[in-house]
Amino acid sequence: MNLILLGPPGAGKGTQAQMIEERYRIPQISTGDMLRKSVKENTPLGVKAKAFMEQGQLVPDGVVIGIIDERLRSQDCHPGFILDGFPRTIAQGEALQAILAKIGKRIDHVINIEVDGEELVRRLTGRRTCRNCGMMYHLLFHASKREGVCDRCGGVLYQREDDKEETIRMRLREYERQTAPLIQYYQLKNCLRSVQGVGGQNEIFERIVRQLDGTPG
Ligand code: AP5
Ligand code: MG
Repeated sequence: MNLILLGPPGAGKGTQAQMIEERYRIPQISTGDMLRKSVKENTPLGVKAKAFMEQGQLVPDGVVIGIIDERLRSQDCHPGFILDGFPRTIAQGEALQAILAKIGKRIDHVINIEVDGEELVRRLTGRRTCRNCGMMYHLLFHASKREGVCDRCGGVLYQREDDKEETIRMRLREYERQTAPLIQYYQLKNCLRSVQGVGGQNEIFERIVRQLDGTPG
């Protein structure tokens, strides 16, 4: 099963992708996580991406398309994959289609997670992530048992650089301008399913599973 998760910053793409990965045994491919790793390791890719990410702007299409092209050819993507945060522009959507055509694959589902503006800001300002295993928490909505420590692996929790309120608002503007047009793009291809993203994480997961498994309701 080849899947795209669409949605604004803070919609819960990463949270849901981790749950889908566990249930369906297909890898989460997060361009955001891949770029943050490159920035941390100071690779040539990270050097190119850093300033854009810090300002809450999208990294140029050519940079991200290159990493996705390589990643989708890996062996672990054979049974399927979950794209989290890609595509993010119409040009990336077109490039994805071309890459998939070359390797003989297609997208089965595009799940659009819907959450509105102020809820997104609340979610992102309170987000904490495990430095070791990537598990996601929220100070109010999904707190770790011990403050600053991951329940799953005991790693240290940190706040993302781009989760400052001013940068969050820039990311939301970028989403409206560059990413939201993909909703109509996939609607026209008849593979978009919208899911209400407000409620408990498990509740939202069940809504997504119903779409993926094709069960009514
Ligand atoms: P990226 O890392 O993709 O960030 P994003 O799209 O801004 O999305 P987030 O990761 O912030 O949110 P999410 O939807 O994953 O929500 P989460 O599950 O964490 O991209 C970062 C940057 O990289 C971009 O700005 C850009 O510069 C660059 N980039 C990446 N991909 C690119 C591309 N393709 N092209 C160009 N540039 C690219 O949840 C958020 C919080 O809410 C968490 O604390 C979570 O615990 C909590 N939460 C989750 N679900 C719920 C719920 N149901 N109720 C309450 N709280 C919840
Ligand atoms: Mg994410």
